[in-house]
Amino acid sequence: MDKIRTMEQKRISILGIETSCDETAAAVVADGRQVRSSIVASQNKLHEKYGGVVPEIASRAHIEKIYPVITEALEQAGVGQDEIDAIAVANQPGLTIALVVGVTAAKTLSFMWDKPLIAVNHLHAHLQSALLGDETLELPAVALIVSGGHTCLYEADSPLELKLLGSTIDDAAGEAFDKVATILKLPYPGGPNIERIGKTGNPKAIDFPRALLGPDSLDFSFSGLKTAVLYHCRGQDMHGQDRVDSMSEQEIADIAASFQAAVIDVLVTKTKRAADRIGAKTVLLGGGVAANGTLREAMQKMCDRSKPPRRLLVAPKAYCTDNAVMVASLAYHKCKAGLFAPLTLEPSANG
Ligand code: KG4
Ligand code: ZN
Repeated sequence: MDKIRTMEQKRISILGIETSCDETAAAVVADGRQVRSSIVASQNKLHEKYGGVVPEIASRAHIEKIYPVITEALEQAGVGQDEIDAIAVANQPGLTIALVVGVTAAKTLSFMWDKPLIAVNHLHAHLQSALLGDETLELPAVALIVSGGHTCLYEADSPLELKLLGSTIDDAAGEAFDKVATILKLPYPGGPNIERIGKTGNPKAIDFPRALLGPDSLDFSFSGLKTAVLYHCRGQDMHGQDRVDSMSEQEIADIAASFQAAVIDVLVTKTKRAADRIGAKTVLLGGGVAANGTLREAMQKMCDRSKPPRRLLVAPKAYCTDNAVMVASLAYHKCKAGLFAPLTLEPSANG
């Protein structure tokens, strides 16, 4: 109690830890907004040859990197344990054997340093990235989180109060980008490479399907779109030759641009649908796929054209993909609300 009372009077510095998938990250953030340090050790090179994240490899790499990454985050912030008020960790959702590394490190530091432990939902933390620049959240607000593992629409009443409106019934948006990149023989992770190649392509070259799942649905489905790209490259029912090797650069660019346009159309249409339904004044956008420039532009256009126009808050590009700033930032709100976790905290695959 004394510890919490003292915190109310001074600046609160939180060490955030993130290991839910294939990035080992640590950050020190003061008062939820001032980024003192942000260290991200990406495992992209380790998973590239498999075209996706291999959980056992991810877990082992987290074990190797967690200590150096945390040490570097403290050094870069120029703080010692005395200046850290709480330890925060993303404990769900994600790969359990990856999450457990961050959770164990956070619990150990919390115990050794006698600092409160704060557990954060990784998806809710992605949303918090969109609030890093400006926290004046005009309500009601709709939030779209698009990552490698999730595609979720929320009604957001505050950083801590989120109501799920819809989510994907099969592939996540980022997963679709990664799988289509594999079909097009582009390196992992697919999203940035599809965006790069697609810049020289015609987004109207191929009319790929947009699954809207009925006029009222706020759920998403991307597996049909992925299959349509596969059929386009290998022939209907996969009986044809894989044509990708013999395609021109322009043909591949056209497929990438047309696929990306189909994903973005669906994401923007569903977000508008949700925003219209709840009369949203603000739209929040976060998660790895939110780094996509064409998606950011399309979402901005939708908000500008809404009547009355809506405000779009997008995560800074550096904090779209997995990082620990978003963890420490959301943890600040939990800290202020006195929402601490016990040392028996466990990781959980589901959010
Ligand atoms: O949020 P994130 O780092 O990890 C999860 O929580 O899953 O998101 C990673 C996903 C990957 O699927 C990656 O391909 C996608 O975000 N991504 C992008 C872009 N940058 C990353 N997708 C589209 N365009 C991008 N520029
Ligand atoms: Zn993520």
